[in-house]
Amino acid sequence: MALHRFLFFLLLHVLRCSGGPLYQGSIAPNYTVSHLLNVDHNGVFLNSPNSTYHASMCNPAKQQLRFYLCVVHKNTHTIVWSANASSPVSSSGKLKLSPSGITISAGDDVSDVVWSFYSDRTVSALRLHDSGNLVLVDKSNVSLWESFHHPTDTFVSGQRIVSGGFLTSSVSDSDLMPGDYKMVVSESDVILEWSNGQRYWAFSSDLETRNYIPAAKVSYMMMNGSGIFLFDPNSRVMSARSLPSAKLRFGKIDKHGHFVITSYEMDSSSEDIHGSGFTAPTSACDLPFACSTLGVCTPGKTAKCSCPPGFRHLPTESTDCVPSDGSSLAADSDNCDSSIHFKQLPTNIRYFDSKFQSSGISNLNITSCRLFCSNNCTCLGFYYTNSSKYCSFLQKKLGSLIFDDDDSSDTRLYIKIVPGDIQSILDNNNRAFLLPILLPSIALVLLVIVIGLLLLRYLRKERNPKYDSSFIKKSRFGCRKKHELPDEDDDDIPILGLPTRFTYAKLEESTEGFSQQIGSGGFGEVFKGTLPDKTTVAVKRITNMGVQGKKEFCTEIAVIGKIHHVNLVKLRGFCAQGSRRLLVYEFMNRSSLDRSLFNVGGRPVLEWEERVQIAIGASRGLSYLHTSCDNTILHCDIKPENILLHDHNGVKIADFGLAKLLRPEQSNLFTTMRGTRGYLAPEWLTNSAISDRTDVYSFGMVLLEILHGRKNCVSIPDRNTPFAATDSGWIDGSLSSPSTMPVVEESYFPLIALEKHEEDNYGVLADPRLEGRVTTDEVKKMVKIALCCLHEEPYRRPSMVTVAGMLEGTIPVMEPRVMSLNFLRVYGRDVVRSLPATMAAVTVTTSNNSSDAEDVAVSYHQSAEQVSGPR
Ligand SMILES: *[C@@H]1O[C@H](CO)[C@@H](O)[C@H](O)[C@H]1NC(C)=O
Ligand SMILES: *[C@@H]1O[C@H](CO)[C@@H](O)[C@H](O)[C@H]1NC(C)=O
Ligand SMILES: *[C@@H]1O[C@H](CO)[C@@H](O)[C@H](O)[C@H]1NC(C)=O
Ligand SMILES: *[C@@H]1O[C@H](CO)[C@@H](O)[C@H](O)[C@H]1NC(C)=O
Ligand SMILES: *[C@@H]1O[C@H](CO)[C@@H](O)[C@H](O)[C@H]1NC(C)=O
Ligand SMILES: *[C@@H]1O[C@H](CO)[C@@H](O)[C@H](O)[C@H]1NC(C)=O
Ligand SMILES: *[C@@H]1O[C@H](CO)[C@@H](O)[C@H](O)[C@H]1NC(C)=O
Ligand SMILES: *[C@@H]1O[C@H](CO)[C@@H](O)[C@H](O)[C@H]1NC(C)=O
Repeated sequence: MALHRFLFFLLLHVLRCSGGPLYQGSIAPNYTVSHLLNVDHNGVFLNSPNSTYHASMCNPAKQQLRFYLCVVHKNTHTIVWSANASSPVSSSGKLKLSPSGITISAGDDVSDVVWSFYSDRTVSALRLHDSGNLVLVDKSNVSLWESFHHPTDTFVSGQRIVSGGFLTSSVSDSDLMPGDYKMVVSESDVILEWSNGQRYWAFSSDLETRNYIPAAKVSYMMMNGSGIFLFDPNSRVMSARSLPSAKLRFGKIDKHGHFVITSYEMDSSSEDIHGSGFTAPTSACDLPFACSTLGVCTPGKTAKCSCPPGFRHLPTESTDCVPSDGSSLAADSDNCDSSIHFKQLPTNIRYFDSKFQSSGISNLNITSCRLFCSNNCTCLGFYYTNSSKYCSFLQKKLGSLIFDDDDSSDTRLYIKIVPGDIQSILDNNNRAFLLPILLPSIALVLLVIVIGLLLLRYLRKERNPKYDSSFIKKSRFGCRKKHELPDEDDDDIPILGLPTRFTYAKLEESTEGFSQQIGSGGFGEVFKGTLPDKTTVAVKRITNMGVQGKKEFCTEIAVIGKIHHVNLVKLRGFCAQGSRRLLVYEFMNRSSLDRSLFNVGGRPVLEWEERVQIAIGASRGLSYLHTSCDNTILHCDIKPENILLHDHNGVKIADFGLAKLLRPEQSNLFTTMRGTRGYLAPEWLTNSAISDRTDVYSFGMVLLEILHGRKNCVSIPDRNTPFAATDSGWIDGSLSSPSTMPVVEESYFPLIALEKHEEDNYGVLADPRLEGRVTTDEVKKMVKIALCCLHEEPYRRPSMVTVAGMLEGTIPVMEPRVMSLNFLRVYGRDVVRSLPATMAAVTVTTSNNSSDAEDVAVSYHQSAEQVSGPR
């Protein structure tokens, strides 16, 4: 074992000192590389013979989440090809070249392969040519596979795109995931199309394209120093578009759907000699999504967006247009068989693809055309040209509209509309015209509710005089929809199962004006309070979340409020009044585990038996969250600060379910909150799926801290990441500052635990303050359980139920898999150290509005959604 580790380190050392192997021209099989292994060369491992191009495990835009096998033009940093863009790997993801083929895998396992090519002939080399073509060859130099045959979003001068081939845009410069736009070389033309096959540009329609052999079939498209050409099967130029002469060109479909050609005079120059050279379509308004859904684009120097008559922008910042009468687009509604109708748009507005009329039926009268669309759920609208009797359907996704001065066209555009229900009309703030109808019925309903409330209040006073009913209102009526009448108190939406609702005034009173703060953290501050029935509570005032719609808030509260387990902190009630959101929890008088464990404020050392009980209690609480509710509830922020203690061995997990309260826009808060350093599973960084095993990883980290009585890694104070500040739990007395945290320690404890495990020397790992009041066997057991929780691959970690069983002794302790823990050595420490920077970067980028930054946010939305789980 020791020898093995020595060799491993030696290898790593050698690789790092020599700068990693960097091959020229070709690589022979049985070769493995990852970004991490070649980090000194930025992941580059292969140069083309004259070094014009290189192949690397690259991370576009220098983000740290997604790594791809790339071919890059060195001087211009243009990524001309990448492997399986929809499934990137982490920095330790491996490219393996073997005699049978080439694979990219996320980990060591065969099952982790995200991209591969296997050949039935023996591979003898991977070559990178000076043209930018990456080729696998056999021993007689016969090509088995070429990157030029599998273009991504870019092609280079000299590369042939054969008929039937296509380029696909990436969603952004940092995420190469295929986007919505394609450039397709068809038998007759080269076209740009949107995801649903709607065309918006054609090579033949470009004014400067010259057609030499009409009616021929396209065999391939190629670009060279003098232009872009389509060739027929006899390699004769069929049509051509000449461009200013240049040595090197890249053609790319960008993330907005433009086809852009950039040209360079010299290979070595990084200057783009013609600006962006060539861009198609020329008018921004001709892009499918120039003005989002149904926005009207007015061409001009800069395109302007507006909504067509009868439509308006949503109140949010989005530029989508929706019907202004409260009904919805068929596109936004899954209600297919309800009474749909069509809204006709003015003649001077046309659909972006109407010039191309991509998908339709000719010789149909308008009645049949309309019927066709009504009866087909996938149809979102249509346009009809009276003169040619052509009917074209809009499908899958609605694009933008174009304002066209020429209103002599006899093409009419019809958008399919689903009438809104009264609720959504109210939601859309457009109830004015409905008021005459609605008012009387609302008044009646209100009257009934008021009478009901008065009756209820009377009855309760009778039965239970101790309660002041203005203080506690039964939750049945507790939640109102967000855009309703300004009056605060009445027409509330019933949500069953809500915990008690408190008014803000009463909570203010019971906390003596929020005077006694007992904690603060990711969601806001926590105050001690006393209810009229003399019970002590902890009141959490949520400040960092922005105002969430009451209905959403109440729905979540109802879910959290229904969860009862002896090891989960009980939600006593809540307050949702105006923009205020407060949560009332049972009070835990010994505060959070970190204080006892890390000995804040002179607390006595936790004895071993107590630590075991805390570990068992916390694991049971988590198991309950993971398995016993209708849907798995992930905690996502397991750390000692969120494990609360009470006299008589009370152990409860706090803050569960709160992840669901975050709105998607707050994903930046979400990530920073999740980003509590040291407890963060690798999948948060690699952007893979978040599951219950993500909590298990964090729990493993907590187990090690329980064992050791110290932080696993000493944190740098959280100056830059305000929300990463830990929740300090709630106790009497003042808050301790992070600077009272224990002694600075240079080593990374999980790594030490792994090393001692390999040496079978567990005794040294226990908290020295226990002074031997624990046996080595007990330490050994906890270390093993903790290490199992830390396995790099989530599926190798035990479930929380198994962890609880192992701690309790009802399930035999698993043997940790050292192979799956090696990542702790390679980058465990670096990851932990570099994390603040990464997280800060995420925060920064999500808060500015460039579309790349949005992508980062989007990828986290997905995580957030996964966390919320299906309901
Ligand atoms: C590569 O590995 C395979 C099996 O993994 C082995 O059969 C082959 O001999 C190796 N080739 C080289 C050149 O080392
Ligand atoms: C790329 O990855 C996806 C998801 O892992 C997979 O379905 C697809 O087959 C892969 N494509 C190739 C060419 O390997
Ligand atoms: C490298 O090779 C390419 C393709 O053969 C050629 O166009 C280019 O001029 C060469 N560059 C240098 C610096 O030799
Ligand atoms: C294959 O190509 C390489 C480089 O172009 C050359 O060095 C080698 O001799 C060729 N081998 C055969 C068998 O043709
Ligand atoms: C580009 O290709 C066309 C068509 O084959 C040819 O006529 C032209 O000379 C080429 N230009 C250059 C610079 O190679
Ligand atoms: C439209 O076409 C359908 C079927 O072709 C026919 O039944 C119907 O009468 C036509 N309607 C009109 C108004 O011409
Ligand atoms: C709806 O229309 C699309 C395209 O015209 C067609 O592919 C699909 O089969 C139709 N669906 C039904 C249920 O008719
Ligand atoms: C459509 O065309 C027909 C003749 O082809 C004509 O009679 C009719 O008035 C036209 N309808 C509209 C709305 O222009």
